[in-house]
Amino acid sequence: MSSSVLPDREQLLTLAHEVGLDAAALVRRERPEGRVAVAATKSSPIDVVTEVDRASEDLVRDRILAARPDDGFVGEEGADVAGTSGVDWVVDPIDGTVNFVYGIPAYAVSIAARVTDATGERVVAGFVVNIASGERWGAVLDGGAWRWDGDRRVPLRAPEPPPLSQALVGTGFNYVREVREHQAAAAARLLPHVRDIRRIGSAALDLCALAEGRLDAYVEQGLHPWDLAAGGLVAREAGVLVEGLDGPPDLRLVMAAHPALAGEYFDLVRTCGF
Ligand code: IPD
Repeated sequence: MSSSVLPDREQLLTLAHEVGLDAAALVRRERPEGRVAVAATKSSPIDVVTEVDRASEDLVRDRILAARPDDGFVGEEGADVAGTSGVDWVVDPIDGTVNFVYGIPAYAVSIAARVTDATGERVVAGFVVNIASGERWGAVLDGGAWRWDGDRRVPLRAPEPPPLSQALVGTGFNYVREVREHQAAAAARLLPHVRDIRRIGSAALDLCALAEGRLDAYVEQGLHPWDLAAGGLVAREAGVLVEGLDGPPDLRLVMAAHPALAGEYFDLVRTCGF
């Protein structure tokens, strides 16, 4: 960081919360009835972006950088800005775009603040709001995770999980055909060993679901930082272990579970070939 003063994590969360709610309101307002038109495609013909994704990202970037002009910005839709403060905002303006297009009520704004200094890079604040339902989750590093109930923040602690054979596992599939063929084969090997698999369609919401016990475990390959940053912090601060192939989670693998399940579950994930 160029400054020796570390940013206050609660203040970063407060900013993420304010801006995230405004972005969610914009997305709700701008969503037409029925199926939403696709504006462009990205990694493959089924990886879509709409004008509302872009408008949401513009709002989040403009509002955050107006409040903290020296910070950097990394957004899913590519409106990146290099900063000088050591704080970068990692943002998915609509996580669950396919659900948004079809009107399935599981799509979210995901906003995280990531600090880089001499000791490395870490997400220090994260906020996720389900745009359709209004449910909100947030976390600060080493400070806890919450869901909002009106103005009240209710602390989150991931509940004790069931045995692996009764675990409900969230997952997702990449937009690139070769990657999803691999994922589908691994998921088919996983399925007989667990209660069931859910493909909700928003990684940020999956990770918040894990934090509050709506899922017992999670696995996905090909997640980008904006899919993972805020929800990953919410899950970790609620006591969930979030790991990757050989250390921190990354594009290659994200697997997550309560510590009481993690050893056995992570072994199973590897055995299944994820
Ligand atoms: C996607 C969602 C989905 C996950 C994909 C992501 P997007 O994000 O999080 O659940 O399976 O890997 O790309 O494209 O809707 O922002």
